[in-house]
Amino acid sequence: MKAPVPDLYSLFHKALRLGLTDLMNRMAVTDAQDREGWARIEDEGLVLQGILLKHSAHEEHFLHPMILAAAPQVAAKLDADHERLDDGVRRLGAALAGLGAVTDAAERADAAQVIYRELSAFIADYFQHLLVEETEAMPALNRHFPPDVMMQTHRDLVASIPPEEKLAELPLIARAWTPAERIMLMAMTRAAAPRPFFDAARKVMADAIGPEAWAVVAAGLEPAVVLS
Ligand SMILES: [Fe+2]
Repeated sequence: MKAPVPDLYSLFHKALRLGLTDLMNRMAVTDAQDREGWARIEDEGLVLQGILLKHSAHEEHFLHPMILAAAPQVAAKLDADHERLDDGVRRLGAALAGLGAVTDAAERADAAQVIYRELSAFIADYFQHLLVEETEAMPALNRHFPPDVMMQTHRDLVASIPPEEKLAELPLIARAWTPAERIMLMAMTRAAAPRPFFDAARKVMADAIGPEAWAVVAAGLEPAVVLS
């Protein structure tokens, strides 16, 4: 059987695409005067902001030097993308945080619409960036480096992420992945992580995807994993 070609981007990017489109659609259906609704959007936005900025920093630390060796022009584009997109994430976070202080109804409506449009424009830019990483950077890396080097880089990157950061990302990952991908992640977590972390992870995943989808994951993790 042919060994799978290393792909360090696509799975996590599915979670980022879900997080961003979810947030945008939550904005679309939340009335600007619904202060509680927008406070929840702000909370979710802040969590996503943290995930996006850390993801960008991980890529810059572990992958950009390798991309520079494999495909310097792609590396230059990705560096510029990261600078622009990180700025965009921070601007959006600040705009969302500022909405809570706007009390006038008309001003709130205007401000909420501006944030929604800016997020949609950011997503258009960000999704193009993800595509370049998946379809230009990753193939260039695989032409330049052997699979074991790429897989070790992946292990190093994952190992550098603190447990609490992994758990913060897990709801989006769980919701964005297929049943087989969820099972693979939980099987790897069970094999490699301390038991308390695995227990925390299965609770977070079960809460994120609901009992029916979790039952499929638990069945795939036989011997049975009972959620206590
Ligand atoms: Fe990136």
